[in-house]
Amino acid sequence: MGDRFLVTGANGCIGAWVVKLLHAEGVDVVAFDLRVDEHRHRLINAGAVPDVEWMQGDLTVQTDVVAAAAGTTHIIHLAALQIPFCRADPAGGAAVNVTGTVNVFQAAKKQGVGQIAQASSIAVFGRSSDYAERILPANAPRLPNTLYGVYKVATEDLAKVFWAEDGIRSVGLRPHTVFGPGRDQGLTSLPSVGIEHAVAGQPFHIDFGGSLDFQYAPDVAAAFIHAARVDVQGAPTFNIAGESTTVAAFVDMIHAVTGFHQITHGAQLLPVVDGVDATDWFERAGGPTPTPLRAAIEESARVFAAAN
Ligand SMILES: NC(=O)c1ccc[n+]([C@@H]2O[C@H](COP(=O)([O-])OP(=O)(O)OC[C@H]3O[C@@H](n4cnc5c(N)ncnc54)[C@H](O)[C@@H]3O)[C@@H](O)[C@H]2O)c1
Repeated sequence: MGDRFLVTGANGCIGAWVVKLLHAEGVDVVAFDLRVDEHRHRLINAGAVPDVEWMQGDLTVQTDVVAAAAGTTHIIHLAALQIPFCRADPAGGAAVNVTGTVNVFQAAKKQGVGQIAQASSIAVFGRSSDYAERILPANAPRLPNTLYGVYKVATEDLAKVFWAEDGIRSVGLRPHTVFGPGRDQGLTSLPSVGIEHAVAGQPFHIDFGGSLDFQYAPDVAAAFIHAARVDVQGAPTFNIAGESTTVAAFVDMIHAVTGFHQITHGAQLLPVVDGVDATDWFERAGGPTPTPLRAAIEESARVFAAAN
C-alpha cells in the first residue's frame, strides 16, 4: 500500500501548499477542512484545484477526524485558529487548537496511522526582550504571552504523552512568520499582503516593524511533509528557520522586486522573538533548505501577478 496523507486545515495557507506539493509527488491526499474554500488553491495552482479527496469536517468532532484518518499512513495536522481568532474566542480557540489536536492523536491511535507532523508555533516563546539572545537557542524556555501560544505549548506536550503512553510517533514544527501567496490571515500576514498590493500597484501599510524570521510558505509546507516522514525517536518539536531580518529590509526587497515603492511599514514591535536557532532541524532531522528570501519574494510576486 502506498502512502496516504490526511492534511487537516487543508484550505489554509500552509495546507494549500502541502496539498499542492503532495499532489505533485503523486501521493494520495485526504484534504480535511471545516468549510469549502478554494481561493488559496486556485491562487497557487494557476486557477485550478488539485484533484485530491476533499473532506469537510470539524476538528472538534472526534468522529469526523477518525473517519478522515481511515486508511491514512501519515497526518499533517495544520488546522487551528490563529492569534486574533483565539483572542476573540478563547474557548473556541481551545476547542480547535487543543481538543482538536487531541482528536488527531486519538484518530491516529484508532486508525493505526504511522506518524503525525503537527504545527506548533514560535508563539510558545515570549518576546525578544524576555531573552538575552536575539536568535533563541533551541532549548530556550517557553514563555507564551497569548492564549494561542499557551494552546501550542499544550499541543507540544500532549504529543509527548501520546508517545509515552500509546507509542504515537509525531514531530512538531514551530513556524515563525510564514509568507507568500495564500498567507492572508493572522497577525503576521501583512508582509504577504504587501507583496500582493505592490504587484497590483496599490499602496499598502504594514503596521509593524522590528525583526521577524520570514519563512516562505512552500518551504514550510515541504518542512511539514519531511516532518511527517522523518525517522526520529519520541515526539520532538523543532524550531524551523527562514531568514531573520527586519520588516524594513523585507519592504525594501518588495520595492526592488516589483518596482513599486508605496509599501510602507510602522515601528510597533510584535510580541514575538526575532528568530530561533533551527540547527537541530536542519542537521539532526535533515530539514529541507529554505529558498533565499529575495528569490521567494520574486516567486511570490510572479504568482500574484499571474492571478491578477
Ligand atoms: N502562518 C503562520 O505564520 C504560522 C506561524 C506559526 C504557526 N502556524 C500554524 O501553522 C498551522 C497552519 O497555519 P496557516 O497559516 O495555514 O493557517 P490558516 O489560518 O491559513 O488555516 C487554518 C485552516 O484551519 C481550518 N480550520 C479551523 N478550524 C477548523 C475546524 N474546527 N475543523 C477543521 N478545520 C478547521 C481553517 O478553515 C483554515 O483553512 C496552524 O496550526 C498555525 O497555528 C502558522
